[in-house]
Amino acid sequence: MRVAFLGLGRMGVPMAAHVARAGHDLTVWNRSPGKAGPLVELGATEARSVASAVAGADVVVLMLFGPDAVRAVLPDVVAGAPGALVLDASTIGPDAAHEFARACHAGGLRYVDAPVAGTVAPATAGTLGVFLGGAPADVEQARALAVLWGDPDRVVHVGGVGSASALKLCVNQGLGVLAAGVGESLRLGRDLGLDRDLVLQVLSQSAYGWFLTQKRPMVESGDYSATTFSLDLMAKDLDLAVTSADSDLEVTRAALDHAKRALAAGHSGEDYAALTGHVADEGEAGSC
Ligand SMILES: NC(=O)c1ccc[n+]([C@@H]2O[C@H](COP(=O)([O-])OP(=O)(O)OC[C@H]3O[C@@H](n4cnc5c(N)ncnc54)[C@H](OP(=O)(O)O)[C@@H]3O)[C@@H](O)[C@H]2O)c1
Repeated sequence: MRVAFLGLGRMGVPMAAHVARAGHDLTVWNRSPGKAGPLVELGATEARSVASAVAGADVVVLMLFGPDAVRAVLPDVVAGAPGALVLDASTIGPDAAHEFARACHAGGLRYVDAPVAGTVAPATAGTLGVFLGGAPADVEQARALAVLWGDPDRVVHVGGVGSASALKLCVNQGLGVLAAGVGESLRLGRDLGLDRDLVLQVLSQSAYGWFLTQKRPMVESGDYSATTFSLDLMAKDLDLAVTSADSDLEVTRAALDHAKRALAAGHSGEDYAALTGHVADEGEAGSC
């Protein structure tokens, strides 16, 4: 397959590496140059523009920040890759997936939303969960690539276009609420005069165990710089969840408000576990 891969961020590079290793004819592009080195070493070609990246592609993979980033590149994809399948692995929410499918169909391309569950380590290992939304024939073509970065048992055809993006929002809504909730438990412990280390230790053995197994060192040290999933991505996903639902997701809205304050306090680009630390420390004398 001739594959164009657009978006070489934390997830895009390891995902595209699987495509190169599988022997496909791979061309990569990123808005900011200088990210393609490891992929070029694996045999990929680096393109200087979206148009040159997608020319002649059978499949165009998008792994971009969110809906606005996809909106920025899609016109050149539609104009430059007639007949191609667009496999959109970005987390964009269902409304944008429908919008992008319409744009692709109008230009004679096909579109599958294909967001992933898991982070940089499973992307590198090829064990991500992958949700696929689209027409059955398009999903089957998408699956051939998705299994390169996904665990074949966790590559799921959810339904029509947008359904995969809807499911992905449910996953990240939970993650964001969890991160904020741990922070509020820590704040409660502080207000009740408990030792923070003891609270963290006991919470690690509680319902919060899954999260703290991964993030406890960051929360203990207050150093969130070893980002795998950034707080600005989490804020984008909480916002997508709140704006996609017909009803008022009050808990999610509260988590989003916390995330926005954490971003304003300078945690943008840090790991989303900074949300936990920000909530835990907010209101403390001397905290921002
Ligand atoms: N990180 C995770 O653990 C994880 C897990 C599951 C799903 N996701 C989702 O996967 C997607 C990528 O995540 P990531 O962690 O790889 O993000 P990232 O490291 O922040 O990379 C974002 C990518 O989007 C590009 N981009 C941003 N705005 C753009 C624009 N206006 N036009 C063109 N390109 C633009 C960036 O280009 P530049 O390099 O030029 O900025 C970069 O290539 C996101 O939708 C995220 O929500 C992430």
